[in-house]
Amino acid sequence: MKRTLLRSATVSFDAKSENESLSRIFVTGFVLPLGLSAEQLADLKTVVSEAVTNCIVHAYRSDPDGRIRLSIKYYSDGLLRMTVSDRGCGIEDVKQAREPFFTTDREHERCGMGFAIMETFMNRLQVVSEVGKGTRVTMEKRLNAA
Ligand SMILES: Nc1ncnc2c1ncn2[C@@H]1O[C@H](COP(=O)(O)OP(=O)(O)OP(=O)(O)O)[C@@H](O)[C@H]1O
Ligand SMILES: [Mg+2]
Repeated sequence: MKRTLLRSATVSFDAKSENESLSRIFVTGFVLPLGLSAEQLADLKTVVSEAVTNCIVHAYRSDPDGRIRLSIKYYSDGLLRMTVSDRGCGIEDVKQAREPFFTTDREHERCGMGFAIMETFMNRLQVVSEVGKGTRVTMEKRLNAA
């Protein structure tokens, strides 16, 4: 079956922790017409929060001038793709960063589980990053076929 794009939306916001809730509300609103279960919705909100938090605390290291872009696409075969991107510091070793319990921030009691959670809750996780340029995290979930 050929996959066609049914619907898409993009939002861009400041890398401030107060904006984390905005990303959850944006996702919630986008998937509302799809009638997901409470559990499916909770999973989507969790992964988007993890990705956005990473931009705020790692990519921009709390620099409030940083910008985060969140894009969501829904396809005819039930695929939901969410992309979170920043123009922050980038990740030196993506493979290592994705390992459970790896963190560069022990100081703030982080446990290094963000990417592991995204990987577990979603069907596919792609992390593309360049040091000094930024990071793009793409997460895909197959929802019930449209
Ligand atoms: N957008 C990003 N920009 C720069 N570095 C990142 C970004 N996202 C993740 N990282 C790096 O990857 C590491 C692992 O991220 P991950 O989310 O798995 O754990 P964490 O954020 O350290 O801890 P937790 O998510 O459990 O609070 C981070 O410690 C950080 O070094
Ligand atoms: Mg994290």
